[in-house]
Amino acid sequence: MTKSRDDEKPENFTPPENPYDLFIDWQALAQTSEPNDPNAMCLATATPDGKPSARMVLLKGLDERGFVFYTNDTSNKGQQLKSNAQAALCFHWKTLLKQVRIEGIVEQVSDAEADAYYNTRHRGSRVGAWASKQSQELESYDELKKFVEGYEEEFKDKETIPRPPHWNGFRIKPTYFEFWVDGEYRLHQRYLYEPDGNGGWTTKMLYP
Ligand SMILES: Cc1cc2nc3c(=O)[nH]c(=O)nc-3n(C[C@H](O)[C@H](O)[C@H](O)COP(=O)(O)O)c2cc1C
Repeated sequence: MTKSRDDEKPENFTPPENPYDLFIDWQALAQTSEPNDPNAMCLATATPDGKPSARMVLLKGLDERGFVFYTNDTSNKGQQLKSNAQAALCFHWKTLLKQVRIEGIVEQVSDAEADAYYNTRHRGSRVGAWASKQSQELESYDELKKFVEGYEEEFKDKETIPRPPHWNGFRIKPTYFEFWVDGEYRLHQRYLYEPDGNGGWTTKMLYP
């Protein structure tokens, strides 16, 4: 299903008070319309001296504490987040002609939360988390396969595979949300939310 640019006219749209409500509405739409990975988001991080980098990750947890993804914390992004806790996220749902941008501060999720999610993963993905030295140079794909085989052997008699110490979840606690709706002749709609200092949010529109 592809949306037409006329589907959502500004006069028909009132942003709700809580940005999480709007995000959840749009995410539900994306889950029915996107061909792949409606939970994919671009994550931007930066070194302490401000050199940025961006890559896709999957949203795996969401509540009013923030947006959670999982990764190898020795990876480039993991190292950047440990030395600079600021990050930005961007969702673009092509079938909906919508974008959501989020900026905020990142914290690691608790061990219990990371364990709970890790234990829902396919056994092969749990082994893979041990085998991949994410973001380090790999000499050949065979080398990776050998690490996978080694860990498969190590865990072959174990019903549960423990979470590797380097595999962790990060939560981005938003201090900025921006919802973007495609408009005719590039007259897009942009709705910005920022904390009001009393636990709620202020909303304003931005020029496209
Ligand atoms: C759709 C999509 C989803 C991805 N999800 C994740 C993810 O949830 N966690 C992760 O570590 N990498 C994920 N990746 C791979 C990352 O984009 C990236 O290649 C990897 O994490 C290494 O990034 P870094 O070197 O900047 O740390 C995903 C890639 C794509 C295309």
